[in-house]
Amino acid sequence: MDNIPNHLSKIDGQLGKLIILGFPFEELAINASFEEIVFLLLHSHLPTQGELNLLTKKLLDYRDLDPKILDVLKSAAENEIEPTEALRIGVSCLSMDMHSHRMDKEGISGALKIIASIPVITATYWRLINNKTIIDPHPALGHAANYLYMLTGEEPSLEHIRGLEIYLNTVVEHGLNASTFSARVVMSTRSDFVSAITAAIGALKGILHGGAPGPVIDMLLEIKTFSEIESYLRHKFESRERLMGFGHRIYRVKDPRAVLLSEVAEDLWHHKDLSEFWTLAIDVERIALRLLKEYKPHRSIKTNVEYHTALVLHGLDIPTPLFTSTFTISRVVGWLAHCFEQLEQDRIIRPKSIYTGPSEQKWSPIAER
Ligand code: ACO
Repeated sequence: MDNIPNHLSKIDGQLGKLIILGFPFEELAINASFEEIVFLLLHSHLPTQGELNLLTKKLLDYRDLDPKILDVLKSAAENEIEPTEALRIGVSCLSMDMHSHRMDKEGISGALKIIASIPVITATYWRLINNKTIIDPHPALGHAANYLYMLTGEEPSLEHIRGLEIYLNTVVEHGLNASTFSARVVMSTRSDFVSAITAAIGALKGILHGGAPGPVIDMLLEIKTFSEIESYLRHKFESRERLMGFGHRIYRVKDPRAVLLSEVAEDLWHHKDLSEFWTLAIDVERIALRLLKEYKPHRSIKTNVEYHTALVLHGLDIPTPLFTSTFTISRVVGWLAHCFEQLEQDRIIRPKSIYTGPSEQKWSPIAER
């Protein structure tokens, strides 16, 4: 297949570097608000104050949830649909809302409507499946803070808002990973944003991709004490299971996003009285890396972003079943930036495959088979 040009991000897997639109990702993650990152990815330059105010206002205005979509989410909750699947269903229903508002389905307003809706759908669905009253969006809170508010009904602390923003800024864009590729393939047929993002959520959900951090927490909760770590992990290797939060197709060193997020997580956990959990997680990482070297000596399998994502999101008290949807709140921006780029390139994506099936078969009538 031809290489797909991309002006959004560059990854150096040997050195562990990630550049987004020319900036080291760490610089953006630490300094920017999430709204600034949205503008940067959709317009390829940092916003002026006026441009940022306009984008922030649009994201706020687009937070309302169409009653038709709320009905669908209620029905999903009655059927106990898993939260990421409910998000995928909710996002695909945005077509109805865009249609009734005559929004440009492949333009900036359509993109911002999708970005604004994802935290709202996620938080609303979480309240529905937990039989709690739905919380309306808070007009004075930004994108990250409003998500935390809509989950709990309480105004989040500055520490939690900033922790979540750094996380969202860190995972917003990462080249042609499986979910971004899915979005681009759909867009390359001249389809629409809602279809592309629905497909991308389907790809993100799997445990080899954005579904990994939930199982990281499950693993840590199962291990419980230091003395159990090595036997637990050896059992995983011997039963040919993969360790969630380790390994990457591109990185041969520790994922640089994991390096940054481990600092964010450490800060969060030190402010909690639960630092035992943090210590256990760090011991599990250290022992897992030693065992990965022992069991897979010819590979260079290191910690990936999802291990420390799990620790950050758990530290922010975000429920484990919402980890993948919370990832989506951020990554949707990268997907949409790729969708715009794909529209400009206007070339269908069609990888070649190598035929490995049988040859020279002869037809036989059904009675003779
Ligand atoms: N635990 C144990 N073994 C592993 C792991 C792991 N986490 N990752 C790779 N391996 C092993 C495979 O078993 C295989 O071994 P073999 O050669 O003896 O058969 C070898 O390494 C190569 O495996 P591939 O699947 O070809 O490696 P690839 O680099 O393509 O896989 C992937 C990348 C899918 C992320 C893999 O490392 C994995 O499954 N990790 C666990 C899931 C995970 O954390 N996913 C999140 C990734 S980050 C993100 O998507 C945002």
